[in-house]
Amino acid sequence: MVQDPEDLSRRHEQKIERERSKRTKDIDAFKTVEEVLDKRTVMVLYQAINNGPLSRIFGTVKAGKEARIYWAEGKGGEELAVKIYLTSSMEFKKSMRQYIEGDPRFKVGKDYRQIVYTWAQKEYRNLMEAHDAGVRVPKPLYVKENVVVMEFVGEGGKPAPVLKTLPKEQITAGIFEEVMDAMGRLYRNANLIHGDLSEYNIMLHNGRTVLIDFGQAVTREHPLAEELLKRDVGNIIRFFGKAGIDVPGEEDVLECLRRR
Ligand SMILES: Nc1ncnc2c1ncn2[C@@H]1O[C@H](COP(=O)(O)OP(=O)(O)OP(=O)(O)O)[C@@H](O)[C@H]1O
Ligand SMILES: [Mg+2]
Repeated sequence: MVQDPEDLSRRHEQKIERERSKRTKDIDAFKTVEEVLDKRTVMVLYQAINNGPLSRIFGTVKAGKEARIYWAEGKGGEELAVKIYLTSSMEFKKSMRQYIEGDPRFKVGKDYRQIVYTWAQKEYRNLMEAHDAGVRVPKPLYVKENVVVMEFVGEGGKPAPVLKTLPKEQITAGIFEEVMDAMGRLYRNANLIHGDLSEYNIMLHNGRTVLIDFGQAVTREHPLAEELLKRDVGNIIRFFGKAGIDVPGEEDVLECLRRR
């Protein structure tokens, strides 16, 4: 059947209009979600909907001083987490710098906004490298300015618990082994040290551990690498020791990590 060109063009316009109205609805949906985000961040979220992985953004999962986590839906209906670094947290500024300086992958930006953007890029890249090294982390999907989109760890907008919130009986030797394995993979295969590893940044989803919060992770060449590695190992051993798990000494763990 031969189509009338005018009909075709009208249909094309209708299609564009439908798309436009769909997008506008999505934008309205998240506009009402929060008023705390600055205009620029809202623009980035528009882009993540129009040309990125998001289809909708729902409410806040967690609102911290430095970042907010939102629950969102991907183009395939899958649950996603959107981590938005706040561009107004002055306290954060001071501590960020030292984790960026000395990492050969990044340059410290001139102004604060730039530092926050670098931080988001760094989290995205660290997550990707950890993921590629076989460490269980939320797979990162998108990064732009201060926004990182990743897999959602949990169900129905409810994040999986972090180890800190679990009753002691649920902290097992198996979980400890898994964390040790993840640290080893991260160190040896991804060349990374988490740098803020503790019971607060390890989730337990379907009985398996998932490491989160990778903004501060540094490469092994970083001047703070050794100090951070020791602190991470110390935190983990202390937590599992207190939970009644038979843990090796800190030096043994460090030696084991460095050896292989
Ligand atoms: N991918 C994710 N899926 C589901 N929930 C997540 C995800 N990432 C983070 N969260 C939730 O948000 C919380 C904070 O995330 P994260 O540790 O990355 O940020 P943060 O900057 O350290 O914030 P805080 O200072 O509050 O810990 C987590 O404890 C978890 O409950
Ligand atoms: Mg955290």
